[in-house]
Amino acid sequence: MTDTLPAEFFTAPGASPHEATAELRAKCPVHRIDYPPGAEAYAVLGHQAVAEALGDPRLSKRVESLPTRYREKAHADSLLMVRNLGFADPPEHTRLRKPVSRAFVPGRIAGLRPRIQEIIDELIDAFPESGEVDLLDAFALPLPLTVISEYLGIPVCDRPLFQQWGYVLSQDPFQYPESELKAATDEFLAYFGRLVAERRANLRDDLLSDLVRGRDSGVFVNDRELYSTILLLLIAGHKTVANMLGNGTALLLCHPEQLAKLRATPELVPSAVEEILRYEGSASWASLRIAAQDLRLGEVEIPEGSFVHLSLAGAGHDPEVYEDPERFDVTRYPNHHLAFGHGPHFCVGAPLGRLQGELAFTTLLRRLPDLALAVAPEEIAWLSDSSLSRGLEALPVRVGRRLP
Ligand code: HEM
Repeated sequence: MTDTLPAEFFTAPGASPHEATAELRAKCPVHRIDYPPGAEAYAVLGHQAVAEALGDPRLSKRVESLPTRYREKAHADSLLMVRNLGFADPPEHTRLRKPVSRAFVPGRIAGLRPRIQEIIDELIDAFPESGEVDLLDAFALPLPLTVISEYLGIPVCDRPLFQQWGYVLSQDPFQYPESELKAATDEFLAYFGRLVAERRANLRDDLLSDLVRGRDSGVFVNDRELYSTILLLLIAGHKTVANMLGNGTALLLCHPEQLAKLRATPELVPSAVEEILRYEGSASWASLRIAAQDLRLGEVEIPEGSFVHLSLAGAGHDPEVYEDPERFDVTRYPNHHLAFGHGPHFCVGAPLGRLQGELAFTTLLRRLPDLALAVAPEEIAWLSDSSLSRGLEALPVRVGRRLP
């Protein structure tokens, strides 16, 4: 039986807690959401239904598929975010994805291993000698932001700017003040306009140069596609990884028996990374899909133009697929979670995300044998800036001994 859920089930920050989702999923994997008049919306909560929907070509990611009133807003100049592979259907999606996916194949990403290890060690070396540190500020955010900035070939010293633009420009355009979106977009375009011009005059062996070549050879048909792709890589390349590192460290510190197992058998770290992504993945929901035609998902008829929200968190805790899904188990096998998505939009950066997870957790466990929470577990707060992103506000930890 399907329920009609209040809009907050999707829109409220840190929304859709596991227990509420579990109850609803047990009734039916698909439910209608009560959106304001003019929009129909649905939530898909079960693993199989989410996996099918992620690969369903009738669910569009283009803003052009939105109902008119939303489309007008989404076409505003301030929306730079929607001109890249993440917001396209074939054949545009195939065209926009190719220059990006080439750069993220596992073979190329493996070459980053020594440099990522170096950045991790430098960040840990910079922790205060004793006392507390916010692991998000001091580690989980700067690590992926440095990695993706270096890989793109953009000035790492401007990391705070990238973080700020990333924060504003990934907000929901239907809820965030348009003037702030516009101001951040203008700054972003001015900054990257200069950088792209410099790089065009002096091409190098880095991802930004590859993207500029893509613009000059006509893969990107206008400048907006180029800048939008840079923006997506910056945002997708750091927030998701930061959430994984924060959520994962918190999970391990709150499950001492799993932490002990991992300290005793560090070879289990890659498996622990998958379990962290399943249990508390970096995004509660996949990005928005729109029904490009009337369709049926499970038992539910979905009219053309509907918003379809796919719950990655709901899929990750589905008892139809995972035995005892509320158990956090670093040895879980098999573990075919959907935390990187599925189908044509499967995360391009998954090899880079996994590599950073493997190296970061291995090094934190090896170098910080006393690492512990500096607050009670119930004081750890979830981020409240977006309903999509599943990450922590802060993670205060006591560092303790620091080994070389
Ligand atoms: C733990 C880390 C990460 C997680 C959990 C994650 C998660 C995801 C998910 C769920 C999607 C699919 C969204 C959808 O279909 O609605 C996605 C797409 C994407 N991710 Fe990641 N991501 C991570 C790291 C990265 C990194 C490091 C990059 C590198 C820049 C990246 C770049 C992208 C891009 C470009 C897409 C769009 C792909 C497309 O639409 O074809 N991600 N990611």
